[in-house]
Amino acid sequence: MRTPRRIAVVGGGTMGAGIAALACRHGIATVLCDVDDAAVWAGVHRVNDELARRVQRGRMCAADADRASARLTASAGLDAVAGAQLVLEAIPERADLKRDLFARVERIAPEAVLASNTSSIPIATLAEAVAAPERVVGLHFFNPPGAMRLVELVTTPATAPETAAIARALAEAIGKQVVAVADGPGFLVNRCARPYYLEALRIVESGAATPAQVDRACEAAGFPMGPFRLMDTIGIDVSLAVTRSMFEQSGGEPRWAPSPIQERMAAAGSLGRKSGSGFYEYGDGRDDAPAGDDGDGGGSPELVERIVAQLVNEAWFALDAGVAEADDVDLAMTVGLGYPRGPLAWGRELGLAHVVALLERLAGPQGDPRYRVAAGLAEAAEGAPGAGAAPPGAVPAPPGAVPAANAPAPPSGAPAPPAGAFAPPAGASAPPAGATR
Ligand SMILES: NC(=O)c1ccc[n+]([C@@H]2O[C@H](COP(=O)([O-])OP(=O)(O)OC[C@H]3O[C@@H](n4cnc5c(N)ncnc54)[C@H](O)[C@@H]3O)[C@@H](O)[C@H]2O)c1
Repeated sequence: MRTPRRIAVVGGGTMGAGIAALACRHGIATVLCDVDDAAVWAGVHRVNDELARRVQRGRMCAADADRASARLTASAGLDAVAGAQLVLEAIPERADLKRDLFARVERIAPEAVLASNTSSIPIATLAEAVAAPERVVGLHFFNPPGAMRLVELVTTPATAPETAAIARALAEAIGKQVVAVADGPGFLVNRCARPYYLEALRIVESGAATPAQVDRACEAAGFPMGPFRLMDTIGIDVSLAVTRSMFEQSGGEPRWAPSPIQERMAAAGSLGRKSGSGFYEYGDGRDDAPAGDDGDGGGSPELVERIVAQLVNEAWFALDAGVAEADDVDLAMTVGLGYPRGPLAWGRELGLAHVVALLERLAGPQGDPRYRVAAGLAEAAEGAPGAGAAPPGAVPAPPGAVPAANAPAPPSGAPAPPAGAFAPPAGASAPPAGATR
């Protein structure tokens, strides 16, 4: 497939500049466009700072950085997108702005693939704004784009295969692992990661543990960062906005209902690291001190099991909805976010019947709809009780799980998970802490 040799990136902020730097490093002539001269130059500085940092860290030589920088041109307005084979937008997360942008870009670059880096706006909503929706695709990079290996390639039913192939070729040419994903709430990664935050928040809401206890338990199980520390890093408002968007797009799916804790904290301006306090306090030498009662020690492995059961369930819901292939689900969550195991493999390791029994217990006699079991998971669990049936095309379970000293007790009547199901896989090396939102 032909890799674009000339691209345009519109929006030179955090993501746009990072992606432009990547493209320039990989030999691709890149035009960076922004609203006015000041914004353009800020974007160019970001690109050059990124290249300079790589030189400082010994990751590239100064001559290569100079060559990469020379591949960048920059311009206020959109005229310079003419001649680009692919135009990637990385402007603020507002559907009206992005739709207007694509409609204007289409007139200037009628042959170009129109790619969006949106995290949460349906690609179909953007494609509706142009005359040729077959040229529209999502190319969802993660933050920081230079360090995060995964890119979601999001297609709609209207996306032409040629469009998807060109977008994939670009992402692969700049060193990314691409997963093909169908358009829908949260695409794949943000969707499959949602329970990591929401179930953790429910645990704290119920008083079963403090945020710091849940974090310690998750980190002990091999997650690169506990859910509360991660929400503080992402921004509690940003994480809440993604949850809200998924909840609204789905017409009120109970599993994705925003947490009252996050709502209260966002309203109070307690946004995490960027505001100086969130689930932890930051600054004044108190970096990462838990806000409020720390509780004693770490949370129990049962808390992690609860979160993992919902991660497994969500992954099966995504499979049922045709969001991605089974292999790609596990790949995305391990390569993309550094989870110690893919959720599908983890479910098999625990035993699908065990996962279903736990979800049913959490649903309680009233059948709390947040714990409804995915149809594919229920079916697979029935087909292979305890053993854990593999979804079609699933990757094998990771080898060499380390025995856990304190494996959780199984719920009554459910088969026990194997020892080690909550320990990091042997030799696991964590990629950068997953910056999903
Ligand atoms: N920041 C993240 O963690 C992250 C991760 C993945 C995806 N995204 C998505 O990437 C996109 C960009 O996010 P960001 O964090 O880089 O934003 P940002 O605010 O850092 O940068 C946005 C840039 O777009 C420019 N801009 C605004 N309106 C414009 C217009 N009409 N035409 C041209 N340029 C315009 C701004 O001047 C700014 O330079 C969003 O859709 C966001 O959801 C962000």
